[in-house]
Formats: sequence, C-alpha cells, structure tokens
Amino acid sequence: MDVDSLNLGRNTGIPLCVERENELLKMNIAQLQGEIAQLKMDFARIRSPPLVVCDVSKVMGDKAIVKLANGNQLLVNIHDSVRSNVSAGDTVLAEQRTFNVIQRLEGAKTCNPEMFLLSRKPTIKWADIGGLEDEIQEIKEAVELPLLRPDIFKTVGIEPPKGVLLHGPPGCGKTLLAKALANATNASFIELIGSELVQKYIGDGAKLVKEIFMLAKEKAPSIIFIDELDAIASERVDVGTSAEREVQRTFMQLLAEIDGFKNLENVKIIAATNRFDILDPALIRPGRLDRLIEIGLPNAAARENILKIHTAGMSLRKVDIKELVKKTDGFSGADLRLVCTEAGYFGIRANRASITQKDFEQAVEKVKVTEENTDYKNMFG
Ligand SMILES: Nc1ncnc2c1ncn2[C@@H]1O[C@H](COP(=O)(O)OP(=O)(O)OP(=O)(O)O)[C@@H](O)[C@H]1O
Ligand SMILES: [Mg+2]
Repeated sequence: MDVDSLNLGRNTGIPLCVERENELLKMNIAQLQGEIAQLKMDFARIRSPPLVVCDVSKVMGDKAIVKLANGNQLLVNIHDSVRSNVSAGDTVLAEQRTFNVIQRLEGAKTCNPEMFLLSRKPTIKWADIGGLEDEIQEIKEAVELPLLRPDIFKTVGIEPPKGVLLHGPPGCGKTLLAKALANATNASFIELIGSELVQKYIGDGAKLVKEIFMLAKEKAPSIIFIDELDAIASERVDVGTSAEREVQRTFMQLLAEIDGFKNLENVKIIAATNRFDILDPALIRPGRLDRLIEIGLPNAAARENILKIHTAGMSLRKVDIKELVKKTDGFSGADLRLVCTEAGYFGIRANRASITQKDFEQAVEKVKVTEENTDYKNMFG
C-alpha cells in the first residue's frame, strides 16, 4: 500500500481514503435528503384535494356569492389573504369542502365564445307551450325558415328580418319559446344572457359580443339568442360610471354587429325583454331588430292549455280546469305553473295523493296574494 495514501503524517490520525469516503458519503446524504424533501413536497401536492374553479357573482364584505359550473350559487367566505383582490366577475379557486375562496385566477375571466354555443339541446318542445300559436308560427317563419330555406325568400323576392324581438310581461313564455326553438332547429344555437354579460364578463362585454358574432358566422346557419336584452340595451340618460360606460360599449358593439351582416346571411338573432319601455330605440330601428313579437298575458284558451300542460303529470280528483281558467284572469304562464305546484302542496299537507278542486282554488288565492304584494305591473308603471 502507498504510504502517502494512508496519510499517516496528518494529525487526524485517520487515513486519507477513509476521510474522502466520509466526505463522499456526507455529500450523498445531503443529496438524498434534498431528494426526500422534494418527494415529500410532491407527495403532499398529490395528496392535497383539488380546488374548485368558480365565478364570483357578488362580493359582500368578507363574503362572496360564487357560481359553480353546475349553476349552483353559494355564499362563501373569502380568505383574508385575497380579500382585497376579489371582485365580481373574477374566476377564483375555492377549497373543495368549505368553498372558501383562497385564490384569484389571474387573467382567467373566461371569455371563450364557444361556451355560449349550446352543445346540449334543451328539452322544451313546442307542445310544452300553451297558447302562443301565432307567435310560434311567426318565429318559425322569421328565424328558422330563412336559415333552412333561403331559396324561398330569393324566389319570392322578399328579405327576411335579421332577427326578432320578443317582448312582454314576465313569465309569459319568451325564454320558453327560445328554448323550444333551440330544441327544434338544426341550426347552431348560441345563448347569451344580457345580465350575465354585464355582471360576469366585466371588461370583456364588447369583445365577447364581437367574438360571438364571429363564431355564429363560422358555425352558420346559426341563431343567436339574447335573453334579458334590456340589461345591455336600455336607454341611458347618463353614462357616468365606468360600469355604465362598459355596458354602453357592449351595446354599441352589438349594434355594429347587427349592422355588419346582411338580412339573408345565415345568422339570425332572437332577443327577449320584459322591459320594452326602457329599450334604446336605436336597437329597433328598421334594418336592426325591427320585427317585434309581443308575448302577452295568456287569454282564456291559452290559460286552459297551460293548465293542462302543467297538470299533465299530476293526479287530479274531479278538477274542473275550465272553472280555474275563469278564476285566473290576468295570470301569467309562470303564475299558472305556480298554482299547480301550490295545489300539489295543499294536497301533500292534507296527506292526500290526489289533488282536488279546493286545493287549486286555495292555490289560486295564494298566488293572487303573492302577486299583489310583488306587483310588477305597478313597479314598472
Ligand atoms: N305559454 C306558456 N306555456 C307553458 N308554460 C309557460 C308559458 N309561459 C310561461 N310558462 C311557465 O313559466 C315559466 C317561466 O316562463 P319564461 O321563462 O318563458 O318567462 P319569460 O317570458 O321569459 O319571463 P321573463 O320576462 O321574466 O324572462 C316557464 O318555465 C313555464 O314553466
Ligand atoms: Mg325570460
């Protein structure tokens, strides 16, 4: 053995090769400890439950109303660390169990026009709508027919409208009609809700409107349905706040898009509002949404139809629908549906499996009282 390698001359008294081996082992240990720490971190990350992505609809102090992908809304706490950062319209991450908001997703204000394209058709059929026969016919002729048979219009030499505007009191079937049209048509159906555009996609409204029309042209023949149109198209006296200016920009973009395509192009618009009185007249000028269809309160024949539709699945005992029709003058379709549900509850409370005329009459009175307390007609003048 080489005398030098044994390092007999050093005062440690430990041979040089043993010392080097020690050092190497120490380095190995340090490296392995680093790897263990990394693996522990990976392990913790893998074991941690996934976070839920949701959208903030409203912030109220240290709490927020968030909307989940399934449409459910929850009132949740916002974690101290992000409280000052979170505002309505943000996309955030929430804990899975408590749904506490713990992180804001930067730049994730989802602005993908594809998500407005209905991939799954609604289940509403024309037969689920009571009354409104003429209105249904008019919608089919103004919206669907020009998309499917443009040749007919060319031959006859008339121009179909660019779209229609359904207007009338709440709960009379405007949204229902659009849903039935979406179900019945083979055209691509894009659904946009005015109030969502204003609350949820703050800052992106105008861009989104532009992209949605682009998408509609790409997927043509297509129908763009704008529900609650008044949220973006009401006449404004002043546009002082930045939120108002933003809505104004969205509206201007909508007008520009409507002007930007021709009547016979294969995109049609169907819009709905229960506040026709406050709409900006620019929207209904000739060449824009100039075909107005009023969806009014149902007459007696329509009420009979609607009651039949909503009682179809109920077990009734000697119920005289015609008598109920007389008692429900001025009721909307939504009121009539509520009458059926309430009548069902009266039956359940009385421990009966079938619903009687008396249950319905009590329900009519109940809905009438509720209506009087929240009288929209008075509220809106
Ligand atoms: N003509 C109708 N036939 C059958 N059911 C109806 C009819 N009108 C309303 N309903 C019932 O009332 C509910 C609400 O109607 P809908 O959402 O279509 O009202 P709307 O006119 O869009 O009201 P709003 O102006 O408040 O948006 C429907 O889901 C349906 O159950
Ligand atoms: Mg509606």
